[in-house]
Amino acid sequence: MLCLGIETSCDETALALIENGKILNEVLASQATLHSVFGGVVPELASREHLRSIGALFDELMAISGKQPENISRIAVARGPGLLGSLLVGGSFAKALALTLAIPIIAVNHLHAHLLACGINNSLKFPALGLVASGGHTHIYRINSPSDMILLGRSLDDACGEAFDKIGNFLGFPYPAGKFIDECAQKGDPNSFSLPLPYLDNANLDFSFSGLKTAAVSTFTEKGIHSDHSHFETPEELNNFCASFNEVIAKVLEKKISRALESNNDVKSLWFAGGVAANTIIRKRLAHLAKNKGLSFLAPDFQHCTDNAAMIAYTGWLLASEDLATKLDFEIIPRGKRIPEDLVHIQ
Ligand code: KG4
Ligand code: ZN
Repeated sequence: MLCLGIETSCDETALALIENGKILNEVLASQATLHSVFGGVVPELASREHLRSIGALFDELMAISGKQPENISRIAVARGPGLLGSLLVGGSFAKALALTLAIPIIAVNHLHAHLLACGINNSLKFPALGLVASGGHTHIYRINSPSDMILLGRSLDDACGEAFDKIGNFLGFPYPAGKFIDECAQKGDPNSFSLPLPYLDNANLDFSFSGLKTAAVSTFTEKGIHSDHSHFETPEELNNFCASFNEVIAKVLEKKISRALESNNDVKSLWFAGGVAANTIIRKRLAHLAKNKGLSFLAPDFQHCTDNAAMIAYTGWLLASEDLATKLDFEIIPRGKRIPEDLVHIQ
């Protein structure tokens, strides 16, 4: 089975082909440079760029794969959460192509796809506990199967990646800042700056990272540091701050995942996905936690942690293997709205 995946939920236009569960080819047009000037994604610019790129990317994918559109048997598309205008570009392109080729379409939950990307290079074991930590979400799921995921906890305000990006912006790093903080953190001392561990003094599995920036800024002010990393007295001090900040996030994620594992003690593995899963320190810590609990630890390779179309195509392939698809009149769901469970069985 040849499944095309389309991803346009934020600022990456991406297409990929999965053939019988294996990546055949993938193409991506990133808008990072365009948006970095504004310090974040500008929705109108993002949808315009998707519209500009998607047709040419599809032609490029067909050319490099040596396949014809008629060889495609399923189309999987990210239907949300994400930016409405951006999702509509991918969704409309996918619907038009499915109609033209007269093949089934599968509307994929972008967050589920982040987690299922763990299966691209590993074999998936169910049930599992999954953490997806990205620029827009910090969600903990119990995963019973590709089509049965139960949300156990989520970010109530800023997402985990957003916390990295906001602090990074304050430190003078370009957007998205997570990878720069990660690089500096690896060279620093995590115990050098004292920062609070947010939203742990409760019994739930939700997260709140919005207070962390205020706490960090007052720490800077106390030390007489201004909002530009050139004002740190030494590069070591910048590294130390990044290490301390990274440590706080790692500890919070670790604690909530441990708590989730206590009430889901039948799971076989721990999955970690989304842009923040590329973080060296957090990845090691969660792998260690899984090992201590006797669980296997799955995370996508680095290029499939951030937004990509292989995860959408792979999810489409998994769902198609269960004979599932979506009706052609499915709706695009922007961030903040519940994604309906409207997969239908086909022959
Ligand atoms: O999954 P993703 O590409 O897009 C969304 O769906 O949001 O995640 C992007 C987020 C950004 O906030 C970025 O700063 C963060 O992932 N990120 C990282 C690292 N690489 C990307 N955060 C921490 N450490 C990293 N190495
Ligand atoms: Zn994402």
